[in-house]
Amino acid sequence: MSAPNKSYDPVEVEALKPEEIDRVRNEALAAIAAADSLDALREVKVAHAGDRSPLALANREIGALPPHAKADAGKRVGQARGAVSKALAARQRELEAERDERVLVEEAVDVTLPHDRVPAGARHPLTTLSERIEDIFVAMGYEVAEGPEVEAEWFNFDALNLGPDHPARSTHDTFFVEGAKGGSADADLVLRTHTSPVQIRSMLDREPPIYVVCPGRVYRTDELDATHTPVFSQVELLAVDEGLTMADLKGTLDHMVQSLFGEGMRTRLRPDYFPFTEPSAEMDMVCFRCRGESVGNPDRPCRTCSSEGWIELGGCGMVNPRVLVACGIDPARYSGFAFGFGIERMLMFRHNVEDIRDMIEGDVRFTRPFGMEI
Ligand code: PHE
Repeated sequence: MSAPNKSYDPVEVEALKPEEIDRVRNEALAAIAAADSLDALREVKVAHAGDRSPLALANREIGALPPHAKADAGKRVGQARGAVSKALAARQRELEAERDERVLVEEAVDVTLPHDRVPAGARHPLTTLSERIEDIFVAMGYEVAEGPEVEAEWFNFDALNLGPDHPARSTHDTFFVEGAKGGSADADLVLRTHTSPVQIRSMLDREPPIYVVCPGRVYRTDELDATHTPVFSQVELLAVDEGLTMADLKGTLDHMVQSLFGEGMRTRLRPDYFPFTEPSAEMDMVCFRCRGESVGNPDRPCRTCSSEGWIELGGCGMVNPRVLVACGIDPARYSGFAFGFGIERMLMFRHNVEDIRDMIEGDVRFTRPFGMEI
C-alpha cells in the first residue's frame, strides 16, 4: 500500500485555489444580488448552490486531498458556501417582502367601485301591476286575451254600439291611421282607444261561456302632462254566460279590490253611460288608506282620496244586447258583464306616484324601488 502523497499540494487543484474559491463565491454573490425576482433567484440558486454548482464540485475535490490540506480547503469552501447560502436566504426574504407589498397594492380591492355583475334591472311597475291583476282573474278561470293596437274602426267603435254618428264616438280622442280611410270597413284603422275591441274579438272567436281578461296599451290624443298620457294601459274584463247579473259583476269587482288592496275592501257603483253596456256604472272602491275615515274629519285628511272616502276606478256594466248580437251571441240566452280601468291611474294612487311622466321616461331609478316581482 503506498503512502499518501505528502508532496501533493492542494493549491495545485485548480478548483480549490483560494482565488478560485473567492472568484466563484463573488460570482455567486453578484448573481444573487442581481436576481430581481423570485423566479430568477431560483435559477441562481440552482446555478450557484446546486449539486452541479462550482462550489459543490470544489467540495467534492476535498476528499482527494492529503489530510493536512483537507481542513484548510474544507474551511475555505465551507465558508464560501455558507456565505452564498446566507446571501440566498437574505435575498429570498427581500424579494418575498417586495412581492407581498406589490400584491397588496396590485390586488387591493376598492369596495366602493361598482361590482362587475350585470345589473339585474327591474320590471316596469305597470307590467307587474297589470300581471298581478291578470293573475287574480286567471285564478278564477279567466283567460288572458290580447289584440292589435292598430285596430279596425269597426272593432274599436261600431261593434261596440258606437256607430259612425254616435255622439260618444267623438269623446274618444282618436288617433286615425293615415291613408287607411276609404277602403273597406276593415281598412279604416285607428290606434285603439280602449281594450274593448279585444272583447269583440274574443266573442267572435269563442262560444259562450266566455271569461276573458284583456290587458293592453291604448291611445288617445291627450297632451302629455302630470296626469295625462297619449299612451296608457288598461285592463278590461268580460264574462258572457247564462244567467249573469249585476250581482256577479259586483262580486267580481269586490273580489278584485280585496285581492289587490286587502280584506274588507268594497266597491260601489254609480249610474253612468257607456254605449256598449246597459245598464252602465262608474265603479269606486273604498279608499284603501283611510278606509273612509277622513270623510268629514278635518283632523285626519287623506291625500289618496282627497278625503272623499272613495277612489274612482273605471267603468263597468252589463254587456249591451246589441253588442252580443253584433258578435253572434243570442241575448235571450246569454248575458254578460264587463269592466275596464286604467293601470297608470291605479299605480298612481296605489304607490303615491304624483307624475305620470315618471312612468314613461324609462329612468331605472323610478322602476327599481318597486322591487322585483316575478
Ligand atoms: N272601455 C271603457 C273605456 O275605455 C271602459 C269600460 C269597459 C266601460 C267595460 C264599461 C265596460 O272608457
